[in-house]
Amino acid sequence: MCGIVGYIGKQEAYPILVKGLHRLEYRGYDSSGIALLNTAADLNIYKSKGRVADLETYCQGKDISGTIGIAHTRWATHGEPNHANAHPHYSQSEHIALIHNGIIENYVVLKESLKQKGYTFQSDTDTEVLVQLIEYIKTSDNVDISKAVQLALKQVIGAYAIALVEKGNPDLIIAARKSSPLVVGIGEDAFFLASDASPIIEYTKKVIYLDDEEIAIIHRNEQLKIISLGNIEKTPQITQLEMSLGALEKGGYAHFMLKEIFEQPRTLRDCMRGRINIDNNHIVLSGILDNKEKFLNARRILILACGTSWHAGLIGEYLFEEFCRIPVEVEYSSEFRYRHPVIYPDDVVIAISQSGETADTLAAIELAKKAGAFVYGICNVVGSSIPRNTDSGSYTHVGPEIGVASTKAFTAQVLVLIMMALCIGREKKTIPEKRFLQILSELDNIPNKIETILGLNDKIEDLSKIFTYAQNFIYLGRGYSYPVAIEGALKLKEISYIHAEGYPAAEMKHGPIALIDNEMPVVVIATNSTTYDKTISNIQEIKARKGRILAIVNKSDTKVRQMADYTIEIPETEECLDPLLSIIPLQLLSYHIAVKKGGDVDMPRNLAKSVTVE
Ligand code: AGP
Ligand code: GLU
Repeated sequence: MCGIVGYIGKQEAYPILVKGLHRLEYRGYDSSGIALLNTAADLNIYKSKGRVADLETYCQGKDISGTIGIAHTRWATHGEPNHANAHPHYSQSEHIALIHNGIIENYVVLKESLKQKGYTFQSDTDTEVLVQLIEYIKTSDNVDISKAVQLALKQVIGAYAIALVEKGNPDLIIAARKSSPLVVGIGEDAFFLASDASPIIEYTKKVIYLDDEEIAIIHRNEQLKIISLGNIEKTPQITQLEMSLGALEKGGYAHFMLKEIFEQPRTLRDCMRGRINIDNNHIVLSGILDNKEKFLNARRILILACGTSWHAGLIGEYLFEEFCRIPVEVEYSSEFRYRHPVIYPDDVVIAISQSGETADTLAAIELAKKAGAFVYGICNVVGSSIPRNTDSGSYTHVGPEIGVASTKAFTAQVLVLIMMALCIGREKKTIPEKRFLQILSELDNIPNKIETILGLNDKIEDLSKIFTYAQNFIYLGRGYSYPVAIEGALKLKEISYIHAEGYPAAEMKHGPIALIDNEMPVVVIATNSTTYDKTISNIQEIKARKGRILAIVNKSDTKVRQMADYTIEIPETEECLDPLLSIIPLQLLSYHIAVKKGGDVDMPRNLAKSVTVE
């Protein structure tokens, strides 16, 4: 959600900032802008509604010189996406330019008080209030800009990552964060600033992740200084990035989403590497083994997540209950945090998040921590806020996921949950050793089986042509396939804008069956499982109402293929591992339908990759 880039150094800032904005496009945005200080230390701001490419067009012929600047992609929260509301925002005197990611919740009160002091506003944003407040404090308290930022932020309620530059001050960028990510890159004679490491990686691997309520004072040719809102100086902790530049490029694929779908055999191998040892029949998840007592004595497991990560969490519920015999509740972070939940100190909370920056999940974690629960994170982005705010955890290790529709992160989240359930179940002796070994050895086959499914890409592309007419879709599954059904439906709606509902197959007759007619595509996951025969009865119910059935089946299937209009055959596996396979054709199906419909697959409308506001 929205992106921040900053640069101060010896090179021209504009090309670095624009390239950085392009790298952050995947996060989702609706307008963009840039502020530069030229050699005379004059402040130039350019902004544009739409894509970063529109900003580049707008900047043609303008003064884009300068070796210091900040740039922004906006995902509107306050005020529609237009030129006036795009960032950077000027202060009243046009001496300060500020960019902001997040929401200033008390902006109305602050704005009213500034209006009474004679300040006027050019935009509808909450952000403009902050830049005016900073200027007001700087003038009225007669303090320097960094002190003014500190004092202003003390008055702010809400979430922010900010960066600002000041006219006549070509050697200084100030940045700060609270509940929104911000990374400082340390280069040779240069500093970089960004919402995540992707704009920084091609210049330096040395970064500092700012913590909440920290202000970075970035002076050209000086050591980076970090102070807290409470005015305590912090020692910057430098981290080495492990990400590669290639991971941020499409590598010959038409879209990042397709690349990421095709990466899954490798990403799942990476996720298992060093954790699963087939020869010794071992699963080593240090986060679990180091905290064994917490898991063995857990009264309950609470899984907190949003969107696709929540769907992975539902699979976790089935896994932990089957193999560990621990009761599980899976909660939307946004509901959990506001509904006075009962949390026991002997609960184990598992927070799942690709980005590690989802605002609701972060807040839900805080609540769980306050209640004394042990919090375990399953995250993809290394160094992001969730891993830094949890007691322990496991990374999914799939590399940057750029496509807004989550694919490879989902399968790796499910894989981590599988490894966790097997590891805990074995320690607790709630899974028979024979069963453990069967599943463990089958896990090793999963990447190759995914390769086989990816070989069906052309067939699935052909099938997708049949369905571009559809306005609605239903996805059905039972047991482990139910979360796959809702995840398949989410993938379709996110990128093709076709309305899709995922349901437990048996639930259909309690309502949604009314929607079925000869136009309604119904995708049914009907792979071998303990509920296979029950799913067949559900398929009969759809057939009787002339629904168009697309079934995901195994090779050995004889019954479903006789009833379905179309089938996609996937390899057989253990029931608990089936989601890792059955989701793949659904990812490909939504991808191809969306491409046929002309959608912007990697950056679907209205969506943000990481939802850093509530
Ligand atoms: C998935 O395709 C989404 N775009 C979205 O639902 C996402 O899973 C959700 O916002 C949670 O994000 P997180 O995993 O980064 O916390
Ligand atoms: N709340 C600010 C706005 O609406 C910032 C939004 C963002 O994070 O991009 O302009």
